[in-house]
Amino acid sequence: MHKGFTLWFTGLSGAGKSTLSQAVVGRLRGCGAKVELLDGDIVRTRLSKGLGFSKEDRDENIRRIGFVCELLSRHGVIVVVAAISPYRAVREEVRSRIERFVEVYVECPIDVLAQRDTKGLYKRALAGEIANFTGISDPYEPPLAPDVTIHSSQEAPEQSIERIWATLENSGLIYFDRPTFAH
Ligand code: ADX
Repeated sequence: MHKGFTLWFTGLSGAGKSTLSQAVVGRLRGCGAKVELLDGDIVRTRLSKGLGFSKEDRDENIRRIGFVCELLSRHGVIVVVAAISPYRAVREEVRSRIERFVEVYVECPIDVLAQRDTKGLYKRALAGEIANFTGISDPYEPPLAPDVTIHSSQEAPEQSIERIWATLENSGLIYFDRPTFAH
């Protein structure tokens, strides 16, 4: 019903990566898929415990996540990643190692993120209390050719999930029966 592949969400903190990835994972599980979610916030408490937010540490974080993706997706598992992954070069490096890889860019303007500020981090970053904060005092390099771009400030999450799902179907990575409704 599905191939092993990696579905990678990149974008700024608070843009909606976790929300969208959790929804896609829920839907995949509901279809009976073998799926794992690697969320940056959680990975950093286990696999990447001790790493900080310098370029070197972020790249190391992404390489570790990528390594797990490579192993699992090679063995038929769907791995969904939600990590800022701000640097293009290491994203490309990971992508080149994984045979089936779908990149989702979750875009949201910084002023909207700073306004929403669900974790209160933008306020602290703007006040200079958090160094190297992505989008404020640290770079984010958007993907040049993502498979899907989500403008999360302009689109309902249900719409975004539909578009991601359609991309997976059209790429031949998932082939679940669509529910059929009696007339
Ligand atoms: S990544 O850059 O290495 O991909 P990752 O996705 O794992 O980042 O972690 C990002 C999360 O760490 C953010 O959602 C936020 O909660 C927290 N965080 C703490 N400090 C920073 C920082 N300086 N820049 C960005 N996120 C930070």
